[in-house]
Amino acid sequence: MPANTNISTNYTQEKMQNSEKRTRISVSKTPNTNFWQKDINLKDKSTMHLKATVKDFFSIKDDRDLIAFYDIYNNDANGLKGRKIFALGEGSNTVFVNPVIDAVILKMDLCGYNIIRSNEDNVWVCCKSGVLFRDFVWEMCENNYSGLENLSGIYGTVGAAPVQNIGAYGMEVKDTIDSVRYFDMNDGKFHTISNKDCNFGYRNSIFKYQDGSKIISDVTFKLNKHFSLNTSYSAVAKLFEGVDKTNITPTIVCEKIKQLRNSKLPDPNVLGNCGSFFKNPVISIEHYEKLHKIYSDIVAFDDKEGKKIGAGWLIEKCGFKGKKIGGISMYDKQSLVLVNHGAKSSKELIDYAQEVIQTVKLRFDITLVAEPHFLS
Ligand code: EPU
Repeated sequence: MPANTNISTNYTQEKMQNSEKRTRISVSKTPNTNFWQKDINLKDKSTMHLKATVKDFFSIKDDRDLIAFYDIYNNDANGLKGRKIFALGEGSNTVFVNPVIDAVILKMDLCGYNIIRSNEDNVWVCCKSGVLFRDFVWEMCENNYSGLENLSGIYGTVGAAPVQNIGAYGMEVKDTIDSVRYFDMNDGKFHTISNKDCNFGYRNSIFKYQDGSKIISDVTFKLNKHFSLNTSYSAVAKLFEGVDKTNITPTIVCEKIKQLRNSKLPDPNVLGNCGSFFKNPVISIEHYEKLHKIYSDIVAFDDKEGKKIGAGWLIEKCGFKGKKIGGISMYDKQSLVLVNHGAKSSKELIDYAQEVIQTVKLRFDITLVAEPHFLS
């Protein structure tokens, strides 16, 4: 019996009508015949769509595959031991920096979710890491479970969501994560850690800067059965201005936010990108005040460590919005998004990003930090 048949899903055919991609949320019962593949083309395994290949590529479909991988990796005869391991989801936050990637890639295709607990107010849902996050959000909203609706339409998988604590439109995924289960390559065992032990921060967690040995297999979310509209982000408040709030459901919010995202962010299937390419930097109040004297329109938000500056604004001020060099530009509708129009190599992208960082540093004395993971 496949190990993941205990992950039941209440997913039905009718619900799949909106997107054929949602079939990924259901559990596949077919045997994993492509477990270990050699010399795989990675161009369409990341939403940036840069050319690259990898020597060793494993398709992980259930917990047993992780245990099997552990044995293969540690067998000296296989020539894998000591190489970096990288768990790849949808590749929406990953940039392949070399034409040939040396890391051993584990493509996380574990699917399905299960309601593990419920009371009057909350429901605990355990979801396998390979499910597309946007499908999971949609499905939870359709069930009238709230807490994720403002995060609709975000690319990437459920397993990738805690890594950088994805956030948008006034919500961060950390606020609904109850626990994370991962397979540890150091001891070949599964472990579960609580939200608190994930050390979540802005686009950060203990999983972000680790050596690849902790491979997320499941995420348990604690969702709310009673919906309340989150309009803390001004653009969201605007969406619902003058609207009768009594009939609003999580699904309505999910749909509206998706439209808002789509109006600003490019579709990676049309124009390669990884969403925001840089984090919004946090600077001291003194630094902010100095800048504010010169630039009265500077975009800044209060932060517990000072002021969070709109990186999109900084980049736009430096003239990079829509500025194309070779096959790369910052997107002309949102300058925080770096887009690939058909770069010949990842070098074009790295050079462009360096130029943005240097120009912003020179003009504002602020060092931008890239958000995606650069895999070599
Ligand atoms: N802005 C500009 N020029 C631009 C882009 C933005 O001046 O080209 C200004 C806007 O006018 C606005 C402010 O910057 O006042 C913020 O813009 P926006 O609401 O678009 O959000 P962001 O800070 O640029 C962040 C997240 C996005 C998320 C949005 C909405 C980060 C790094 N990015 O972007 O997340 O969707 O807020 O909540 O925090 C992602 O991480 O991939 C991502 C898309």
